[in-house]
Amino acid sequence: MMDNIYYYFNQYNLSDIEKEELATLIYPIFIHPEFQKRMTREYMHHGTITLGEHIIKDTITTYILCRKKSKKRIINLDLALKISMLHDLYTFPWQNSQEKTSFFHKHGFRHPVEACINATYWFPEYFKDVKSAEIIIDGIMHHMFPLPVSSVKNNELDKMELNNFDNFTKLDKDIQYIIIKSMKRKRFAKISFSRSLYYEGRIMSKADKKVALSEIKNFSSAKALLTGKNKKIKKGN
Ligand SMILES: [Fe+2]
Ligand SMILES: [Fe+2]
Repeated sequence: MMDNIYYYFNQYNLSDIEKEELATLIYPIFIHPEFQKRMTREYMHHGTITLGEHIIKDTITTYILCRKKSKKRIINLDLALKISMLHDLYTFPWQNSQEKTSFFHKHGFRHPVEACINATYWFPEYFKDVKSAEIIIDGIMHHMFPLPVSSVKNNELDKMELNNFDNFTKLDKDIQYIIIKSMKRKRFAKISFSRSLYYEGRIMSKADKKVALSEIKNFSSAKALLTGKNKKIKKGN
């Protein structure tokens, strides 16, 4: 499985030491069964790219940007990479899903909230320290900026048409509070429109845009972003 991850590292200009550092930091998430599921063609993300591949590319790009920027400021590399590895761990494949939700609860707006819940539910050990939990959750929640994220008033996450609301109810109250607080920042009607409060989140969001633009190469993938449907993806493809 380790060979697998180096296959992606080798597509970038990284030294052996950098590859080793990156592998050590992200490996525990990479080998998790939920992450491995997203490396398969069951989870197509953009065009012919699986969700797992997209996340790894984002993470390598985040690593490279952090290395560059850390010459001028202090960056917590470990947290930036965690945000990246966890940012798109939404529950079900989004293309051709047939789900019918209201406009502001569509996958594009809602998936960061689902990813926050899955990340905290599947990797609770990363969220024990409150400050780290705030930085990771806020980075995941606002990674789509300048696109907004779904938001609801009060604590009514049950109104958000989430695919993993059950798991949210099983989280520690402190974690639930951090998720809700981040989701409600700069809320306007049914959306929250804010970049991440923390530099680690902002740098990852930048990496995500860079990678997504390189992945959306054909009309079908671009159209899918708006319609949720992609004829080029067949079941079992
Ligand atoms: Fe995303
Ligand atoms: Fe992404």
